[in-house]
Amino acid sequence: EKLTALAVMQDAPVIPVIVLDEVAQAVPLARALVEGGIRMLEVTLRTPAALACIEAIARHVPEAVAGAGTVRSQADAQAAQRAGARFAVSPGYTPAVGRACRELGLPLLPGVATGSEIMLAQEDGHTDLKFFPALQAGGAAMLKAWSGPFGDVRFCPTGGVTAANARELLALPNVVCVGGSWLTPADAVRQGDWARITQLAREAAALR
Ligand code: 3PG
Repeated sequence: EKLTALAVMQDAPVIPVIVLDEVAQAVPLARALVEGGIRMLEVTLRTPAALACIEAIARHVPEAVAGAGTVRSQADAQAAQRAGARFAVSPGYTPAVGRACRELGLPLLPGVATGSEIMLAQEDGHTDLKFFPALQAGGAAMLKAWSGPFGDVRFCPTGGVTAANARELLALPNVVCVGGSWLTPADAVRQGDWARITQLAREAAALR
């Protein structure tokens, strides 16, 4: 059955935002997150290794669903899908990125930070959105304010979210999940401390 942005958001309380420098880190990291109960994985297109990492996870970790983050153009969306990404996440929204993902059949979680951006995304049919950068742009208070005029929109706040503040966000009726990099600390990834990452994933999976 077809994956949707909402299904990506509903799978677990947290979507990990992953930055990988080495292809060799991708498979053990994905397995560590899956082991902890997190299987929707956003691998950001911010490093030269990112596409190869998505490809490795798609090929070798069938329990995970690899997605691409930091998708900012049609070319990004195409490259992500070629690598095996099953969903895309963008830091902002443009009609061009929305169109590219629709043409590819790639579910998109578009980033928004203002009412105008929400309206642009809604005009193109997107009702499940990432609020980015969430804490910097107003956090829980902003989400409460949006729940009136944009009562039909569901959000994944990302940016500045931590294990400490995730619960408050997840308790809001218009928040389905949160996103964040805290499940994959750079030092743990570098050291191959997969047990620590599994533990962080387990705690994240239990947040709701
Ligand atoms: C990012 O920009 O890397 C993501 O939004 C994650 O942000 P965070 O590191 O604040 O969780």
